[in-house]
Amino acid sequence: MEDSFLIELKDISFSYSNSGKVLSSLNFSLKKGERLAIIGGNGAGKTTLFHIMLGLLRPQTGTIRIFGKTVLKEADFFEPRLKIGLLFQDPDDQLFSPSVLEDVAFGPLNQGLSHKEARDIARKTLSELGILHLEKRVPYELSGGEKRLVALATVLSMRPRVLLLDEPTVGLEKRALRRLLKILNNYPLEALLVITHLPHLLSEVLNGCLFLENGRLFPVSLSKVQDGPFALPY
Ligand SMILES: Nc1ncnc2c1ncn2[C@@H]1O[C@H](COP(=O)(O)OP(=O)(O)OP(=O)(O)O)[C@@H](O)[C@H]1O
Ligand SMILES: [Mg+2]
Repeated sequence: MEDSFLIELKDISFSYSNSGKVLSSLNFSLKKGERLAIIGGNGAGKTTLFHIMLGLLRPQTGTIRIFGKTVLKEADFFEPRLKIGLLFQDPDDQLFSPSVLEDVAFGPLNQGLSHKEARDIARKTLSELGILHLEKRVPYELSGGEKRLVALATVLSMRPRVLLLDEPTVGLEKRALRRLLKILNNYPLEALLVITHLPHLLSEVLNGCLFLENGRLFPVSLSKVQDGPFALPY
């Protein structure tokens, strides 16, 4: 049943104004329960693909359906962006408030929660990620790993139905990685998409893998890419 897809892309082609085709007649569908890694070489178009899914970039051809509805105009993406959390590859693109707590409370406020409710959920999320001690810090003064965890908190505090994570493990030490895995394991998500160069680090939260090459996605066996970075198909 088509409407059971959470996200569906059909015949998507995309080029930046100064580049050749990045995505080329790409098809993709995401169903409830799927937890997929997206792998591919540097510059393959993985980040571009996430940005197209949430309307941050518009494809030259193709159609996008989210939760069963076709999305075309900017306004069509407002609701999906409140329900699908996107972790940007660069945390500096995600953080803009004068304090960590305000950044993490921003999404819940946007979803219509009161200031107190938004702050409570922000503190709870920071605590789940083991970074409540950062709540009063200025985001741009944080370390790389701290920024990535705060960026993740801004996404998780919105309690999204679907998570799109663009290289979430970069810069994380072992304990932070364990906390991330625990959250991804326990969180009531309908589906998860993770762009990663190291799918074996996330294997316990994944159940499939797609390889982006020449502008299209190809399914690959997760077991083939779980053994470590050298087992990747590129
Ligand atoms: N804003 C932009 N303007 C022009 N070209 C861009 C822009 N952003 C990305 N590109 C180009 O589009 C292609 C796809 O980039 P994208 O960031 O989607 O790759 P990626 O698969 O996420 O790579 P990585 O693994 O290095 O993050 C690359 O060739 C890149 O140089
Ligand atoms: Mg990228």
